[in-house]
Amino acid sequence: MKHNIVILCLAALMTAGCNCPSGNEQQSASARTDSAVVVSTIMARRSVRKYKPEPVRRDQMQQIVECGINAPSGMNAQPWAVRVVDNPEFLNGCTELWKKSMTPEQAERSTSEPGFRNMFRNATTVVFIAAPTGSGQLDCGLLGENMILAAWSMGIGSCCLGGPIRFMQSPEAAQYVERLQLPDGYQLLYAIGMGYPDEQPDAKPRDASKVKFID
Ligand SMILES: Cc1cc2nc3c(=O)[nH]c(=O)nc-3n(C[C@H](O)[C@H](O)[C@H](O)COP(=O)(O)O)c2cc1C
Repeated sequence: MKHNIVILCLAALMTAGCNCPSGNEQQSASARTDSAVVVSTIMARRSVRKYKPEPVRRDQMQQIVECGINAPSGMNAQPWAVRVVDNPEFLNGCTELWKKSMTPEQAERSTSEPGFRNMFRNATTVVFIAAPTGSGQLDCGLLGENMILAAWSMGIGSCCLGGPIRFMQSPEAAQYVERLQLPDGYQLLYAIGMGYPDEQPDAKPRDASKVKFID
């Protein structure tokens, strides 16, 4: 009993004397932590082009696309179609057609880098993003960056891909685009290759002079 009273008194003293944060202070401290995590995720992200062999787990991809579709869009129109492909037969088959579309010299040059796996910068999982022809590009860009940052925060690397889409838009790749089952009137805009990173690229330089504060 005596022991319990001593503990109670000690607890009361500690509560009175400590600089315990109030509810609001606690909230803003956690907001500061969240902000630090978001900022460090943004600043640490790099495009990755070398990945471990396994595709990104589906439950992780589910979370990543969920973050994507929570991006803002004009009038909340959500003018996107998102297709996740982790089937090696799809990615490799497309790559074989891509190789055939080039001269042997070009194909040799494009595939000779060590660790070359496929035309999607070696990604094991590729997210294809499509929009109604001629619109939705801005919204789809925001969708993509949400996915890229969410992926990075989960230890998943990515590379935004414009080059492979030029081939996907050619008649040679039509059979693969058909498999994406895009809505009528939608066109592929870009893709994001993803996977578990097998490299740690350095930061690319940024040109801060492009930003001005106007008084
Ligand atoms: C719209 C767009 C298209 C891109 N297309 C390709 C591509 O086809 N192949 C590639 O290797 N990287 C591609 N990238 C990645 C850029 O090369 C990369 O983001 C840039 O060099 C900056 O490097 P960082 O992402 O590591 O900061 C693309 C990026 C964007 C935003």
